[in-house]
Amino acid sequence: ATGKVTLDPGFANTAACQSKITYIDGEAGILRYRGYPIEELAAHSSFLEVSYLVIHGELPDSGQLKEFSEQLRANAALPAEMRAMLDAFPRDAHPMTLLASAVNTMAAFYADTVDPKDSEQVDRATILLLAKLPTIAAHIYRNSVGQPPLEPDDSLGYVEDFLRMTFGGLSGESELDALFVRAMDLLLILHADHEQNCSTATVRVVGSSQASLYGSVSAGVNALFGPLHGGANQAVLEMLEEIRDLGGDVDSYLAKVKDKESKTRLMGFGHRVYKNYDPRSKEIKGLAAQILDRQAEPDELFELALRLEAKALADPYFTDRKLYPNVDFYSGVIYRAMGFPTSMFTVLFALGRLPGWIAHWREQRLDPAARIARPRQLYTGHAKRSYSGS
Ligand code: SDX
Repeated sequence: ATGKVTLDPGFANTAACQSKITYIDGEAGILRYRGYPIEELAAHSSFLEVSYLVIHGELPDSGQLKEFSEQLRANAALPAEMRAMLDAFPRDAHPMTLLASAVNTMAAFYADTVDPKDSEQVDRATILLLAKLPTIAAHIYRNSVGQPPLEPDDSLGYVEDFLRMTFGGLSGESELDALFVRAMDLLLILHADHEQNCSTATVRVVGSSQASLYGSVSAGVNALFGPLHGGANQAVLEMLEEIRDLGGDVDSYLAKVKDKESKTRLMGFGHRVYKNYDPRSKEIKGLAAQILDRQAEPDELFELALRLEAKALADPYFTDRKLYPNVDFYSGVIYRAMGFPTSMFTVLFALGRLPGWIAHWREQRLDPAARIARPRQLYTGHAKRSYSGS
């Protein structure tokens, strides 16, 4: 990002190791999408504009943004057969399992958009996936609470209509509606891409075999589901509720985390790359304070999260290991304040990460150096031995 990097041929041939999309400096806590600092995009952009930037490499002009938005709104509806398929799942199935299944079946419902070598099909699949994921997510949520799914309303914006399809309308108090829509839009921006994380690397690995965009993204959804990755936002809320139910004793919980025998992690803390404060977490913490300040009563779990962070960051066990809050530490208290159950939190992460997954899959497709992912291994098994036949 600051100077020419020379890669040795072997390294350079691993397509997943090269990308022009996102730059992260983990020591300095820097995150940029296509060169733009996350702080500036968070302050001035929108999720649709950021999605276009991440996928196409440049900010759209007003005409391009208008056309992009219209394409997404015009394709938001689901085929009746997909809705019927979602209805056939057990009511208590985890939303991420259904989301991965629905994304994969788009290769069946839109079989004329699966060829990665056909640019028109790739562009069509890009629009279909971005347009339909919010409708799929809302359908899954409505089924989980026994409410009838709602059809998209293309007179509304992308994020506003997702919240309407989910909750059947917003809070009714228009200022709070606007705040929730803005908060959701900002959270989606902050999750839009993050370089070669577990789920994005999965999308690239699956896509490297020339699998369809739908199959590759479905694999990414499954990777994100894991509690060490995107599932952490759900795990953070469950951790805060556990501490609350035990009387809010933060010191005892941190003592349990520091006791290796307990195999307990401080969820929402730590990161493979950030060895500093995750810049996204700073933005989300500020947003949480803004939203929760409007509530009549202080939000007990947010207060608990603030205390937990303060205690951990004053404790050498965490600071010596460079463990700071990551993107998942504060996002859940906002989702909860909006009315989402914890089971939907990672679905919201997937909605935000979708443009990043698509961008990486498209970038690799166009990279002449890209080859099928085929990691080698360090063999640690038996040396050659004969089959005695006895
Ligand atoms: C995301 O990669 C990405 O970019 C991911 C992501 C994205 O946008 O895509 O940023 C999204 O996945 C964020 C991370 C969400 N996960 C969690 O919050 C789960 C809790 N965090 C950890 O499990 C852990 O920090 C990881 C998985 C995030 C990172 O793990 P690493 O890099 O493998 O860390 P490590 O195991 O090498 O940790 C080094 C030390 C170890 O202790 P020692 O053996 O040195 O004594 O720190 C300890 C670890 O035990 N440690 C923790 C801890 N995380 C690491 N101890 C307590 N609580 C934690 N959360």
